[in-house]
Formats: sequence, C-alpha cells, structure tokens
Amino acid sequence: MQKNKHIIAPSILAADFGRLDDEVRLLNDAQADWIHIDVMDGRFVPNISFGFPVVNAIQKIATKPLDVHLMIVEPEKYIERFRDSGADVISVHYEACPNLHRTIGQIKESGAKAGVAINPHTPVSLLEDVLEDLDLILIMSVNPGYGGQKFIYQTIPKLRKLKGMLSERNLHPLIEIDGGVGLQNAEELLKAGADVLVAGSSVFKSKDPIDTISRLKAIGSHGSWV
Ligand code: DX5
Ligand code: ZN
Repeated sequence: MQKNKHIIAPSILAADFGRLDDEVRLLNDAQADWIHIDVMDGRFVPNISFGFPVVNAIQKIATKPLDVHLMIVEPEKYIERFRDSGADVISVHYEACPNLHRTIGQIKESGAKAGVAINPHTPVSLLEDVLEDLDLILIMSVNPGYGGQKFIYQTIPKLRKLKGMLSERNLHPLIEIDGGVGLQNAEELLKAGADVLVAGSSVFKSKDPIDTISRLKAIGSHGSWV
C-alpha cells in the first residue's frame, strides 16, 4: 500500500440525522473513501446509537464502502444482518468476543472484511494470535461510546508497536484509528503507521466538511512525511 493512499472514513455519528440523506450525499461527493458507522447498544458502551434500519438507509444512498464498527455485546448474533444491511467492513470488539477467532471467521463467511477493535486499555499484544486472520485492526483512541472526545495520546506508541508486530510477521491488515482524530493529529498518526483515519466531529462540525475531508486526504501526499 502506498503511504499517501491513506483512507479517510468520516463517522456518520457526528452527522445531522434529520438530514441523513444529504449528509451521506455530501460524503459521496467528498474525497471520503469509506463511511464509518458506529453501532452502540447501551451495554458494551454507555450509549445507544442506531441499528439495522439506519445502516440500511445509508446503504441505499452511499456510493462508498460502509465501515461498520460494532460496539455491542454478543456481536456474533448480528453479523449476517449487518452484512445484509450493507456493511462492507465489520469490526467487532476484542473485549466483547470470548470466541474471537470464530467470530472473525463468521464475518469473513458473510462476505465482509473482518476487523477487530481494541479499547484504549487493551494492549495490542493480545491480538498476536489472530493477526494473520484480520483485514483490519481498529485502535480506539478514545473510550468508545461518544463522538467529540479528546484524543488519548498513548495511542501513538501503541500504533507504532502494532506496526512493528505486523512488519515482523510480514502481515498487512489495515490499521484504523478512531476517536479524536482531525487535522491537528492526522499527520502524526499517518507517520506512526495508521492507514485509515476515522473522523467524526472534526469533519461534520467543521465549517466546510468537504474541504476538511480534502485536507485530511491531502496530508502526506506531497512527500512531507514519507
Ligand atoms: C466512538 C466512535 C467513533 C466516533 C468518533 O465510540 O467509535 O467512531 O464517532 O468521533 P470523533 O471523531 O468525534 O471523536
Ligand atoms: Zn467508531
């Protein structure tokens, strides 16, 4: 993967749900690569967002892949339904999956790309034995549950550590960073090894979301950090 081809995945959680169709069209028109969709159940995280009907509604309008982040307990019960609702990438939380290897297999069997997400307190070393089965690793850089939180700086060394583990094994799953990401830290995250940047508030709460997405996409593309 060329380093200047990082993926920008705006998080729809920060959009205006009263104008969801327009917000999705905005992402279609922008340089967004994926649409990040946060599903929360009020059990794994202390907040409830939305479920299948909303993912389905987004799919009907979206021209970009749907990156579905399941912050729910027992995600294995719902993989196929999220796939049927339009998910292209499905990430489950390490902390929510006692049979993680099986759940990853289930995601792949559904036809989606398989991701595993880890909370800020979960060390990357715990993923060692599933690394080669993964298409994506999602490192949470805030405690999951809400948009608009402050980036946890410890994520940067964690990211470097994961990058090192992957290089040693010559594995190439995408590394996604989620939470508190914006123009202020995107370059540092890309330098440390991130491939996918999720950005909610920094995109949708900005004056010009399309321009913000273009700027996030342009970082590094002129060789400033390669
Ligand atoms: C948090 C979610 C994030 C959130 C990011 O639990 O997983 O994807 O939408 O929002 P910002 O970019 O505002 O931190
Ligand atoms: Zn997310």
